[in-house]
Amino acid sequence: MKISLVLLECILVALGVTAKNVFNFEVIKENNKTQRIPKLTTFSWKDCSDPSSAVMVVESLDITPDPIVTPGALFVAIGLMVKGDVFAPIQADLLLYKKVDDTWVKFPCLGILGSCHYDDLCQVLTLISSCPDPIVQSGIGCQCPFKAGTYTMPKSEFDIDAAAVAAGDYHAVGNATLMGKPAFCLDLYLSFSE
Ligand SMILES: *[C@@H]1O[C@H](CO)[C@@H](O)[C@H](O)[C@H]1NC(C)=O
Ligand SMILES: *[C@@H]1O[C@H](CO)[C@@H](O)[C@H](O)[C@H]1NC(C)=O
Repeated sequence: MKISLVLLECILVALGVTAKNVFNFEVIKENNKTQRIPKLTTFSWKDCSDPSSAVMVVESLDITPDPIVTPGALFVAIGLMVKGDVFAPIQADLLLYKKVDDTWVKFPCLGILGSCHYDDLCQVLTLISSCPDPIVQSGIGCQCPFKAGTYTMPKSEFDIDAAAVAAGDYHAVGNATLMGKPAFCLDLYLSFSE
């Protein structure tokens, strides 16, 4: 639940999409010259967790652009089932790729963003200074531990950082291990056009 939302947020932040007020650190912006606003054109996902040990299962995920009101905005809705209480440490891996000439090129790990390994995602979560309303209202909250349950975040607005996201095809895989067993896996494809 939380974890998958946070993994999703890590993915989105790494792609240059920042949830309103989620993080109190700035995504590195190269400069101000990129004023174009990328548009989400394709989105697909699958839950890639091992059904025999999955603790967190993404039941629904929807990312839709808002081309009419705010061209740079994305709406994210998520439904998550947490089968058992989740405590630290949560080991996690994130892999991020961008397609360059028909080849998936892996992003490096820059600090806590990019293709990173996390010894304990709960530690990363402590960097969230202000838990966004939709996440609070879903009952999930932003800090470990997380309680078993079914959580829903209705369509909530996220803003694209136009300076940080480049047009192109992106692939992200996030997975997590709890007490030595694979507990979560999410596989995402996103395409942005100019
Ligand atoms: C970049 O944009 C920010 C906020 O819009 C502004 O404060 C800053 O002066 C700009 N920097 C440059 C180099 O134009
Ligand atoms: C993520 O999945 C990969 C490939 O299956 C695996 O090698 C790795 O240990 C997993 N990481 C975590 C933290 O579960």
